[in-house]
Amino acid sequence: MKDHKSILAVLIIFLAAGPGRGAGLPLYKDPKAAPAARAADLLGRMTVEEKFGQLQQLDGLWEGNYREEHLKLAREGKLGSTLNVRTAPFANKLQKEAVEGSRLGIPVLFAFDVIHGYRTIFPVPLGESAQWDPALAEQAASVAAEEAYSVGLKWTFAPMVDIARDPRWGRIVEGSGEDPYLGSKLAAARVRGFQGADFGAPGKVLACAKHWAGYGAAEAGRDYNNTDISESSLRNIYFPPFKAAADAGAATFMTAFNDLNGLPSTANKRNLAGVLRGEWGFKGFVVSDYTSVKELIAHGLAADDGDAAVKALSAGVDMEMVSALYRETGPAALAAGRLSAADLDASVLRVLEAKFRAGIFEHPYIDPALEAATLKTPEKLRLALAAALKSLVLLKNENALLPLDPKIGKVAVIGALADSRADMLGSWSADGKPADAVTLLEGVKASVSPATEVVFSSGAFAGAADEDLAKAVAAAAGADVIIAAVGETFDMSGEAASRVSLSLPGRQLELLERLKKTGHPVAAVVFNGRPLELGWLQENLPAVLEAWQPGLQGGLAVAQTLFGKANPGGKLPVTFPRSVGQVPIYYAHRNTGRPPNPKEKYSSKYIDSSFEPLYPFGYGLSYSSFAYSGLEVSPPAIKPGGKVRVSFEVKNVSRRAGDEVAQVYIKDEAGSETRPVRELKGFQRLALAPGESRRLTFELGPEELGWHYTGGFAVEPGGFKVYAGSSSVGGLEASFKVEP
Ligand code: NOJ
Repeated sequence: MKDHKSILAVLIIFLAAGPGRGAGLPLYKDPKAAPAARAADLLGRMTVEEKFGQLQQLDGLWEGNYREEHLKLAREGKLGSTLNVRTAPFANKLQKEAVEGSRLGIPVLFAFDVIHGYRTIFPVPLGESAQWDPALAEQAASVAAEEAYSVGLKWTFAPMVDIARDPRWGRIVEGSGEDPYLGSKLAAARVRGFQGADFGAPGKVLACAKHWAGYGAAEAGRDYNNTDISESSLRNIYFPPFKAAADAGAATFMTAFNDLNGLPSTANKRNLAGVLRGEWGFKGFVVSDYTSVKELIAHGLAADDGDAAVKALSAGVDMEMVSALYRETGPAALAAGRLSAADLDASVLRVLEAKFRAGIFEHPYIDPALEAATLKTPEKLRLALAAALKSLVLLKNENALLPLDPKIGKVAVIGALADSRADMLGSWSADGKPADAVTLLEGVKASVSPATEVVFSSGAFAGAADEDLAKAVAAAAGADVIIAAVGETFDMSGEAASRVSLSLPGRQLELLERLKKTGHPVAAVVFNGRPLELGWLQENLPAVLEAWQPGLQGGLAVAQTLFGKANPGGKLPVTFPRSVGQVPIYYAHRNTGRPPNPKEKYSSKYIDSSFEPLYPFGYGLSYSSFAYSGLEVSPPAIKPGGKVRVSFEVKNVSRRAGDEVAQVYIKDEAGSETRPVRELKGFQRLALAPGESRRLTFELGPEELGWHYTGGFAVEPGGFKVYAGSSSVGGLEASFKVEP
């Protein structure tokens, strides 16, 4: 009898433990158990210090080595994650301390800013957005994930999905531009690319949608500055790309540095617990930004370190990046009842569950041989070239100066940016190596005939002397064409790189003026991470090509485009103002009661400038020409839950094959609240052979037609306009009704 009982007891334990788990092996070590169950089991075994330790992320690699304390913290089970630790020797050594040296063996989650490639660097995200090709952005993110994984990383701080409508803000380069619809499509695509169907798989990494929320609306475009954003703007403009990232399964979110309407994002319970977790059902974990928990004191929200930790953690910020207030002050706050054990445990569970899902308990180490076989392979470089080609936007091409004839006699390539490798990479270039980048000068040399003479002079950037300008002009003597590379260096945009001016830095405009005076045709190529004031170029030069910071293959892509091997087809993902004084300027603005009218003094305009942008959102030319026709919207009336079908034809009416990005906009004509004059609700980039035409069809339903009103999301009855065309201006027009 006794024996039967003990056999039964063993059987019960065995069954509870699950098949395949040996007696005595804790549940959390069972790879077959559900991640949530493993996390709960592990949590039950942890001390308070170990719990806070799992919420700690530290900047791990410092001047090429570890900071002293990190190995020790890992051994004590108090290092949940690091940023910047990478490559097998570093990652595996630290991981060994955590996995084999600590009491519970919880692995470290290695993170890094892999924003537009790890070693194979793609165009900066704003340039990628100009492709209007989410599938291509997904492929680029997937390559970035594969490379990052090969050096031991399992988490990237991307995609950055902040809507940005102020080009003074340097971080506009990191996102998708001004539009929530385009931004949402790209947010979802990048999440899919980084994570695949299962971020626990080899070659995949956890994505992190950042910066939650409203960071891109920094007042005066000054980085880290406060934001004051209406509920309507949050819901309709700033939140949608985050929602798209969450719906695509983003494993993590990062809070932002900004104060939002009086509550810093890193302690914003309303957004974290309310919107993100409550309304959207987000199940991943949230990390603070770099020391943003500690910064709650400077914001004037927290009285001291302990208060900052309590406010951030109670708001739902699970992991603390770099500052160590959770770890240092958390146990005392818990003992004093200022912090609830339930909040602490909820955060630890979320972090642990993500680690189980990431597969790092089973595969904590990276194979040192993987990196060499993975980084910057020829196939990846081909994708980087395709990505750069598709990101280029032709802004002007008078009398078809472009494409140039590769057999041209003499080409003068002028401008420091034409021969600068680092500036091709752009901001946040991870472990991209400038030495791997192809410059425009190299690209031109590779694209012209052997008989063509190519000369180069760096001309004028900041600090240029008169003789630098004179040399450049002399070099251009007798040129059949001058290719002038102008714009910004890579570090003039990005984090902490806000500007009050959007002009070409240094003496570049003066250089262009002098080059124009030579009488030789000048094609300007603009390298930049933000919209710049290009009015003089538009008025005075025959050709202007927007190249962004196009990545490792950028110089080649630009040259192949200038010389006609490729045909530009990108479109602007952000409005280019005439002058900084027009900022913020974006296409999806609400109308005024006195819309701008040059003939009407008392209308919404300027006395010293046109109210119109230089280049509108969605704009971009091609060497081909396209015609739009036959717009049909059916049925003519729907119910609020219904769908209309919008279809029209796009035809390549030129003799050159090319890409066009067909765009669909709506306008809700009247309702209980006002809405933008136009809202992008569909697009497709398509390649058309000469003479080829295609009929495109888009379905617009509640998701596209609705709006977040004060009372909630709705499609309101009334009239809608539909526009179909090649930019946010003009196009074919039709209408339909939503009936009550
Ligand atoms: C600060 C930046 O705001 C954020 O985007 C980045 O991921 C972290 N630093 C880590 O480098």
